[in-house]
Amino acid sequence: MDTPYFLIDEAKLAENAKILRDVALRAGCKILLAQKAYSVWQTYPLLQDSLAGTAASGLFEARLGREEFGKEVHVFSPAYRTEDVAALVKYADHIVFNTPAQAEKFAPMCRAAGVSVGLRVNPECSTQAGHAIYDPCAPFSRLGTTSDNFREDILPLLDGLHFHTLCEQNADALETTVAAFLEKFGKYAKKMRWLNLGGGHHITRADYDRARLARIVKDLRKETGAEIYLEPGEAVVLDAGTLHARVLETMKNGMNIAILDVSAACHMPDVLEMPYRPPLRGSGAAGEKAYTYRLGGPTCLAGDIIGDYSFDAPLRIGDELVFEDMALYTMVKTNTFNGMPLPSICLQKKDGKTVLLRKFRYEDFKERL
Ligand SMILES: Cc1ncc(COP(=O)(O)O)c(C=O)c1O
Repeated sequence: MDTPYFLIDEAKLAENAKILRDVALRAGCKILLAQKAYSVWQTYPLLQDSLAGTAASGLFEARLGREEFGKEVHVFSPAYRTEDVAALVKYADHIVFNTPAQAEKFAPMCRAAGVSVGLRVNPECSTQAGHAIYDPCAPFSRLGTTSDNFREDILPLLDGLHFHTLCEQNADALETTVAAFLEKFGKYAKKMRWLNLGGGHHITRADYDRARLARIVKDLRKETGAEIYLEPGEAVVLDAGTLHARVLETMKNGMNIAILDVSAACHMPDVLEMPYRPPLRGSGAAGEKAYTYRLGGPTCLAGDIIGDYSFDAPLRIGDELVFEDMALYTMVKTNTFNGMPLPSICLQKKDGKTVLLRKFRYEDFKERL
């Protein structure tokens, strides 16, 4: 297979799906796939039996969820255009609004189409340190209605409340958040048909406390009488994909440098946005093994750096490097800056065979513009 390419691991996807199905059964909740993290619709059949449906960030994801996944379609966006809501009601089961004014404006359209209406609230409870860009409870956040801005007069329009505050977190952070949510919005939650606890639950991670999650969900259901939804993205595809790259060139400038045929800026932008250093198969931390290299992409961006890694032997032109945990927030975020080709998307089947799902061409680059 020509690099660069993403390789999705069918067996791992199935394993994650099974964990999520078991958790949903144990907790008595519904779990959706947040398509913003992963939208490789060709693999949706592997998830369909285990999950209750999909969560979308707007019209295109909602349509993809309806057409390719089926089951339930839930949508949240910080603000909607009227024409988008008019189209969305054809695809969505739940539409969540960010402000009372948007809920008030669009509830009649939703009602007429039989779509359930929700409001995203902001419990103002930050449980994560370090990633302010991923903290919807940071000061001056535009994500969710705070208790000060809640309007009781729109309660008759609402079927549900939604919050999303977590990022790669364990059940202890959820427990803290649910307590803050109940303190601020508990009296409203009891009037709702459903509550959506957003994403950021790292449920499929080995150290995730699934028993605690089940208890939190059960208690919340008991206290409010509402149906509970979770909409993780990462947890569905955690460790379920790799990005395969090749060394194009090596050079020195105060240290060893290798230029790869993948780019942080184009193919794994979270490496720069978050930022983080992606795991690389067979490598060590800088200085840990004999030969340390700074790995970078072939774009013009000086900061297109994936990270510093060490190896047992010097890197050679043509060596293949495999970045791990690359199914989440990659293929949905790739771009063609500098005219960079997009990596192909492949599926490693359970029987070991590799299937090409998508190869990108010059026309894909040209037709975007
Ligand atoms: C509203 C909402 N729901 C779900 C998710 C999925 O989160 P994660 O992929 O961290 O589980 C996000 C992520 O940003 C989100 O904003």
